[in-house]
Amino acid sequence: MVNKATRPTDGIIGQDLWNIQLDEQGQLKHFLTIEGLGTNILNQILDTAESFAGINESVKKVPLLRGKTIVNLFFEASTRTRTTFELAAKRLSADVLNMNMSTSATSKGESLLDTLRNIEAMQTDMFIVRHADSGTAHFIANHVAPHIRVLNAGDGSHAHPTQAMLDMFTIRRNKGADFGRLRVAIVGDIKHSRVARSQIHALNTLNTGEVRVVAPRTLIPKDVEAMGVNVFYNLAQGIQDADVVIMLRLQKERMQGALLPSEQEYFQLYGLTEERLQLAKPDAIVMHPGPINRGVEIESSVADGPQSVILNQVTYGIAVRMAVISMTLGGNTGNAQAQKNQEQT
Ligand code: CP
Repeated sequence: MVNKATRPTDGIIGQDLWNIQLDEQGQLKHFLTIEGLGTNILNQILDTAESFAGINESVKKVPLLRGKTIVNLFFEASTRTRTTFELAAKRLSADVLNMNMSTSATSKGESLLDTLRNIEAMQTDMFIVRHADSGTAHFIANHVAPHIRVLNAGDGSHAHPTQAMLDMFTIRRNKGADFGRLRVAIVGDIKHSRVARSQIHALNTLNTGEVRVVAPRTLIPKDVEAMGVNVFYNLAQGIQDADVVIMLRLQKERMQGALLPSEQEYFQLYGLTEERLQLAKPDAIVMHPGPINRGVEIESSVADGPQSVILNQVTYGIAVRMAVISMTLGGNTGNAQAQKNQEQT
């Protein structure tokens, strides 16, 4: 297998991007991007999530973050990310404030920073931010009070780090911890996908055997090979012998101009059907971050079929987000089982 992993640079925000994510002890302080984080941090997230996954299956709540207040600031639509962040925070016993940004005072002309100052004044501890503009979570992290933690819940086409980590968790649960044995194919609109970027960084940091991207030329970003992937323009070749096939939706809201002839033609060339899935390894898993578009990037019988782990990804998102929230807010993550016992008594 070929792994051309290189240390990436971040063209959008700059070289200092990763520094503000870590404190002086090298512990996670904000979670804005996978870039610049070492294997140790990614494995710490996965291991911590594993301890929370067990708790989620039984007692469902630990008192780790009692007294903390977490604010969901979603400037862009979300089903899975917003709700699983909310569930994660509640299962850690934090208070959760869901701001409806379409009805907040930013729609009356208040600046983003003034809105943030006001939410800070409510003695809050964490902002979870989704925004259509790349770099927004990073901008906010640079301007909040020192005690506030910021998590990126997706910024433009830049990054979606908790999605990538729940995807890594799903792969680890199904395929084991040795990513070096794995061939992972990411298929679809790579160019506009923050999920794909974060997945590629995470897979390479975890030393995945081979990372492939599969798409029409118009949906492959320039210089993508520098991110340490092999590029395929043909679906059959791209998923051949893959252990993991990750399908992505067409990000039409971020496309400028006609990059595709039609959705029907896209499905004919790049849609994952039962027949095509047979080209991957017999035990390959099929993933998708959602929302899925049936009949565009994936056939319904594959999305709902025995190799699909799409809904498991959603479930694991709670444990992974619990891990990231508790690590950044300084909860005693190593003592999750003791916390569970305390709750039960
Ligand atoms: N995967 C994902 O980000 O889904 P939502 O847009 O529903 O949050």
